[in-house]
Amino acid sequence: MRGIVTIDGPSASGKSSVAKRVAEALGVPYLSSGLLYRAAAYLALRAGVNLEDEAGLLALLQAKRVRFLPDREGNRVLADGEDLTPHLHTEAVDRVVSQVARLPGVRAWVNARLKEVPPPFVAEGRDMGTAVFPQAPHKFYLTARPEVRAQRRAKERPGDYEEVLRDLLQRDEKDRAQSAPAPEALILDTSEMGLEEVVARILEHLKD
Ligand code: DC
Repeated sequence: MRGIVTIDGPSASGKSSVAKRVAEALGVPYLSSGLLYRAAAYLALRAGVNLEDEAGLLALLQAKRVRFLPDREGNRVLADGEDLTPHLHTEAVDRVVSQVARLPGVRAWVNARLKEVPPPFVAEGRDMGTAVFPQAPHKFYLTARPEVRAQRRAKERPGDYEEVLRDLLQRDEKDRAQSAPAPEALILDTSEMGLEEVVARILEHLKD
């Protein structure tokens, strides 16, 4: 596989686990674009930058010398040499990341980091097949019913199911603008599918 595979979908649709497994099977790295949005949100929170202050946030990202390290085992984000990765999947970051991801300057910053990575790779996120890698020859879009996604999320991170579902629906709404599937993407509803089955379907499609 020499090109780019994109896997997009809403939060907790399983795209990270699927992207990781597909990349493993193909022997290429995977890129988690969400992790870069999370890093931007985390740095903003930690520095106390107002989340509407786009110029201030971009200045912070430049000053921090952020490095994105995608590889087969996982993705890491470093800022001034410090590994931010363990801090990026917290409720505090979940709550503000959509707001940060709506800033055009932040989207341009994330997209530039992603485009620095030499193909081949599997990229996952919301707009990999549309805005960032429209030329990718293989595009997939994973969805699942909100209730199923909330159940999966509640298993990963202990929390009240109703609350998880409510947060997830809120984030869907906020992320909607950049979450449409590419018209040519293969759409897979994974509500009734296990991880293995989704991975197998994608690999089969890539073989064709
Ligand atoms: O996939 P994730 O939950 O780690 O993504 C975190 C947030 O980043 C999500 O709320 C939406 C945003 N995001 C985005 O706007 N565009 C992407 N390509 C990836 C993530």
